[in-house]
Amino acid sequence: MTKLSVNINKIATLRNARGGDVPNVLEAAQKIESFGAEGITVHPRPDERHIRYADVRALKPILKTEFNIEGKPIQDFKNLVLKVLPAQVTLVPDAEDAITSNSGWDTIKHKSYLQEVIEEFKSYGIRTSIFVDPQEKMIEGAAETGTDRIELYTEAFAVNYAKGEPNPAMAYTKCAKLANELGLGINAGHDLSLDNVKYFKENVPYLDEVSIGHALISEALYMGLEKTIQRYLKLLK
Ligand code: PXP
Repeated sequence: MTKLSVNINKIATLRNARGGDVPNVLEAAQKIESFGAEGITVHPRPDERHIRYADVRALKPILKTEFNIEGKPIQDFKNLVLKVLPAQVTLVPDAEDAITSNSGWDTIKHKSYLQEVIEEFKSYGIRTSIFVDPQEKMIEGAAETGTDRIELYTEAFAVNYAKGEPNPAMAYTKCAKLANELGLGINAGHDLSLDNVKYFKENVPYLDEVSIGHALISEALYMGLEKTIQRYLKLLK
């Protein structure tokens, strides 16, 4: 079974556009859970242009499902995660000026750094996941960091799927099999949508969780959050 974690950064972005508290991020997260989502993901960035650190602190006590905090493990981020103690932390090598995440970790070059950060989070009982491109050597490197899971960066899949390329998930299938052999759990995210998630799920084994934000919130503009979430859940079962 693959769990759906909804990334609520876009709700915060909409709220921030007016400076007030509409839509209310906490209420949105609770509704998303009540509509059946199995997790809530947030990705606080240092400039807090989407979800804010204060939102993350306020969300923890009201959530009933798995809380996943993603981000680059700078000191402020580490302090936040260790205070909030989510179910999962996903480490992402965000560039300062990137609009959104645009690459996975080089798990070979940054192995000792990742080992250190992962060990610290795990010592607090937080499950760890690291964002990686679908390359077998990066999966092998990830296994050596001690992480519990990887998150496969699915942008390339989404682009190739939309273009109608043959076997758009091939690299992901291989990496998922390898990750499973190496004892890693498997998450996936970025540009997954109602159009492509079924194909991904059917072609990539051992998928524990997908985290979806941009497409899901966009689709909800037409269909409403409840219907949209229920359609994802159906496609993921
Ligand atoms: N996973 C990671 C690591 C991300 O940075 C993001 C975007 O913030 C997502 C998943 C979700 O991507 P999308 O918003 O395209 O669904």
